[in-house]
Amino acid sequence: MPRRKPRAVAKTAGQRRRSPGRPQPRRAAKTCTRREVLGRGVAGVVYKTCCGYGATQNCSYATKVFTTQRAFQAAEREMRLQAAVAKAGLAPRVVKAGCRSGECAIVMERVRTTLDEYVAAARHLTDAQQRAIIHLLERVAGLGIDHGDVHSGNIAVDRPFRLRMIDFSEAHESRSVNVHAQVGKLVGDLGVRFPALRFPALEAYAMQGHARASSSSCQEEDRFLAYVKAQTGLDVGNPDIEDALLDIWMNGPSNCEGLLRKVRRRYKV
Ligand SMILES: Nc1ncnc2c1ncn2[C@@H]1O[C@H](COP(=O)(O)OP(=O)(O)O)[C@@H](O)[C@H]1O
Ligand SMILES: [Mg+2]
Repeated sequence: MPRRKPRAVAKTAGQRRRSPGRPQPRRAAKTCTRREVLGRGVAGVVYKTCCGYGATQNCSYATKVFTTQRAFQAAEREMRLQAAVAKAGLAPRVVKAGCRSGECAIVMERVRTTLDEYVAAARHLTDAQQRAIIHLLERVAGLGIDHGDVHSGNIAVDRPFRLRMIDFSEAHESRSVNVHAQVGKLVGDLGVRFPALRFPALEAYAMQGHARASSSSCQEEDRFLAYVKAQTGLDVGNPDIEDALLDIWMNGPSNCEGLLRKVRRRYKV
């Protein structure tokens, strides 16, 4: 009877690892060491980090360590959302992340500086740079993610003016992100930090949002009346005034500002 050739049995991972003379694989970016503090925030501390061994050691990483109980709960979401934004190249790439022995940490690409540090040094943002900031925020919003904490310390700037968002501790999924409001908040923040500087492109974009918000608030008659009262102090509850206002509302322009101009002309307010 013909004998069968014995089938080779695959070695287990443990056996392979123990076989003598076999070189150990290098696991770059797996073993990481924390160095000096890069920044401290509400959620935790960020350290400069080196990953890998010997000559292949790479120190272009940062580790954000979450230290409070509340932060542990939020850490998983922060890691997930940052990784999603990083996939589109709009946040530092997450190298590894997880929770172990009482702390959670994200190891990510290290960024060079933040927008507030950049502006402090350059004392100026060109029109193109301001538009690039708006573009970044629009793209992140386009991913269905509201960053939730847009300010100049949470926008990373690398050379040559490569922009990415950092700090997703307040981020959440949202289909209707108001980027104009985010830019408005950023303008406010820059205004406080750098009162002598102007950012016309950012300011104009934030104002567009303001105009849009107020015009949409005049689409309904009740809102229009409330808007007129707030802007002029007119007694909109008086039936004669109310009739006249609603006549203007029916036949006037479709935006709040135009309607308000007509009201002001008529009542000299
Ligand atoms: N990837 C990074 N590379 C370099 N520095 C960073 C990085 N992430 C954060 N930092 C620094 O750490 C600071 C705090 O980090 P951040 O994520 O904003 O924490 P928090 O949620 O506590 O505000 C940042 O303002 C920045 O200076
Ligand atoms: Mg922050």
